Amino acid sequence: MAKAGIQAVRGMNDGLPDVLPAWHRLESELLALANAYGYSEIRFPVIENTLLFKRTIGEVTDIVEKEMYTFEDKNGDSLTMRPEGTAGCVRAAMQHGLLYNQQQKLWYMGPMFRHERPQKGRYRQFHQFGVEAFGIEGPDVDAEQIAMTARLWRALGISEHVTLHLNTLGSPEDRVAYKQALTEYCKAHIGSLDADSVRRLDSNPLRILDSKNPDMASLIDNAPKMSEYIGESSLQHFAELRQMLDTLGVDYVWDERLVRGLDYYGKTVYEWTTNLLGAQNAICGGGRYDGLVEHLGGQATPGIGFAIGLERLVAVMEEAGFQPTPENSLYMVSVGEEARRYALALSERLRTELPKVQILLHTGQGSFKSQMKKADKSSADIALLIGEDELSAQEVTLKMLREQSPQIRYAEADLMKVLAERFSAE
Ligand code: HAM
Repeated sequence: MAKAGIQAVRGMNDGLPDVLPAWHRLESELLALANAYGYSEIRFPVIENTLLFKRTIGEVTDIVEKEMYTFEDKNGDSLTMRPEGTAGCVRAAMQHGLLYNQQQKLWYMGPMFRHERPQKGRYRQFHQFGVEAFGIEGPDVDAEQIAMTARLWRALGISEHVTLHLNTLGSPEDRVAYKQALTEYCKAHIGSLDADSVRRLDSNPLRILDSKNPDMASLIDNAPKMSEYIGESSLQHFAELRQMLDTLGVDYVWDERLVRGLDYYGKTVYEWTTNLLGAQNAICGGGRYDGLVEHLGGQATPGIGFAIGLERLVAVMEEAGFQPTPENSLYMVSVGEEARRYALALSERLRTELPKVQILLHTGQGSFKSQMKKADKSSADIALLIGEDELSAQEVTLKMLREQSPQIRYAEADLMKVLAERFSAE
């Protein structure tokens, strides 16, 4: 079909009716999950002061350097459309005193914006469900959040298609020592580095480990190992976490190259990937950020969280064969002015009596035949027919649409009973 008129912004998707049942299923699982683990919802704006993201995510990250939708508003203030949720969540929690001498478990869901090169699974507007827990040193809360994600995969029937990659980044001091060792190693092999890595050498050497360039693979494999630079307390935190995951029966791969693309992390970091999506295979990323609240000017408060990319998760659900649960619905056909008015009034009474049943009232004109065609095409199993005969007898005809059985006429009160019984049995 020819594309007419103004198109959506590249990398920003419309949610069309055929995919939204999968979204609704996912959203209801997420709400139930958050509730089951005692997380409360928090909402914060889509736009924040640019400085918040620079301070939180880090000046020399891909997100801040290349991907932010930043603009000056009419006052000349630099504002940015949120590329992720942790920054806004922490800002809001600090601003409203939610972190003062207390533990908090919060969740959020909504659109995020990154000016990345769009491709399958990578969009410029995408949606995240995220959780953040504050004031808890762990590692029990680390394990609990991972258990939460594992439970979600089970509820969605996709556990066999996902893998947990786990690592520890140690403390800021550990990372200084490690960065130094890594930088020295890379400088000694500078000829084998690609341009991106050379650029990162002075700004953010850890990100070199993240390189997807196959020519860098052996250089990275032979690089100093992060675990050799991690201090005692972080190592113990990590060992306890792994023990807890073993107790919970959650499998993981210890991936020493996993550094994540945001600067606020320390100690635990993890990512869930899937084998169903091709290149953009990360469906969830998270970790600990014990220094962030203090870095933003608050009292030192440990924090940990994760975010799930909902477009990717919906794609996984569909690859894994998601089928929407069929609705219970019935279709109302009426012929003649008076019958139409009666059908309209009856449809409202049916919705009151049968709140879980979808009542598809034929609206607009149409012959009996054309209305029946619509009924056949709809999701309904039952049609209610109202014509002149029914009106004069004060009855309604019930016709089964998907099975051979005689039509039966009922007075309205009996019809309600029959329908209530039938739909409660399903
Ligand atoms: P992230 O790894 O940048 O972490 O994003 C989390 C998830 O969002 C990814 O695993 C992916 O599924 C999805 N995602 C990211 N970018 C895109 C994109 N361009 N298109 C589609 N999906 C995308 C964070 O955002 C951290 N705030 C997570 C966190 C919360 N850490 C601690 N608390």
